[in-house]
Amino acid sequence: MAVMSRRVAGFGTTIFADINALAAKHGAVNLGQGAPDFDGPPEVLAAAVTAVNSALNQYAPGIGMAPVRQAIAHHAQRFYNQQLNPDTDVLVTSGATEGMFAAILGLTDAGDEVIVFEPVYDTYVPNMIMGGVIPRYVALRGDDWSVDGDELAQAFTARTKAIVINTPHNPTGKVFSRDELRMIAELCLKHNVVAITDEVYEHILYDDASHVRLATLPGMADRTLTISSLGKTFSVTGWKIGWAMGPAPLVHAVNQAHQFITFAVSSPLQAAAVTALNLPFGFFGELQSSYQARRDRMLGVLQKAGFKVFKPQGSYFIMIDWRGVAPSWVKDDMEFARWLIREIGVAGIPASPFYQEADRQMGRYFTRFAVCKKDETLDAATERFAKLGKT
Ligand SMILES: Cc1ncc(COP(=O)(O)O)c(C=O)c1O
Repeated sequence: MAVMSRRVAGFGTTIFADINALAAKHGAVNLGQGAPDFDGPPEVLAAAVTAVNSALNQYAPGIGMAPVRQAIAHHAQRFYNQQLNPDTDVLVTSGATEGMFAAILGLTDAGDEVIVFEPVYDTYVPNMIMGGVIPRYVALRGDDWSVDGDELAQAFTARTKAIVINTPHNPTGKVFSRDELRMIAELCLKHNVVAITDEVYEHILYDDASHVRLATLPGMADRTLTISSLGKTFSVTGWKIGWAMGPAPLVHAVNQAHQFITFAVSSPLQAAAVTALNLPFGFFGELQSSYQARRDRMLGVLQKAGFKVFKPQGSYFIMIDWRGVAPSWVKDDMEFARWLIREIGVAGIPASPFYQEADRQMGRYFTRFAVCKKDETLDAATERFAKLGKT
């Protein structure tokens, strides 16, 4: 009996599950999945415990608890000078992941087209497929993963309903420049298209990179839904507290879907989100310097091992080209990932699954490593990568 719907039959398992299983089997140092192996700030963890012990254990309002919506709006004002009404412009979701799914379902109809940049974070396109939406791909090209203006302009058609922008970007570490975002904004205005941004790495920036919030560019406040979450900034990826914010009609549309996907999100963890979002600027500065140190260190290690390294401007990730390092029989990123786990004892994520089937070869020589790991883990990875010169 065929039990699986046609809607999901093509999905397979995620590359993260495959690599995690293989890494565990071979005892590899896992630089695969983008989850920290250290805990979040103690005061944030304590706030969750307090909330559990304060009878905050029943359903929260579907749109999110009022103090959390206020803290999200305040954070947007603090960092981006964005003015949001916490009662109408903010929706709490089960992580950015549910925020994106609810956005696709709430803002698009079957047969609409939505533009995405590839390599593309792995949940967006399955979200679209489940909604009957057609993804239109625009490639990020060259060593700096830049956007070709003509290619982007051509992707907009009469059927384009939305464009999804992830900045800082997973898996490349690209931070979209103000000029690129201006170009996107102009096209959105010209074609009456909604922008949905995924900004979960908004606080993980390197060197002099700065994060520009598309919603703050001229004309974009009315047509941008900004999605972010607690997980990456506060090292609590398991909490799955996220939010979608923007003009009331967009947020209302997203809530129409959200109310029948999760209805409401974990109450005690929402309460702890208030503590997290209101942490002083010093916390965010220290977060950035600790990540800068991790990235700098791993850039050096990977370069020394012989990889071509794409220097990230933000996010948890470093993308490499493995061709100068792997033995000659290794033909693609999947073989490379398996070889690296088995022979060197380090796990990374092959890049080709971040491309659509027709473009898989574009990711064939790339692998993504996560740097969101404690010193001991990076020490162990450093030791193992040091073997590479000798293979
Ligand atoms: C670009 C991007 N968006 C969303 C997520 C997931 O966010 P959340 O845990 O808040 O659902 C991730 C996690 O890896 C990510 O890299």
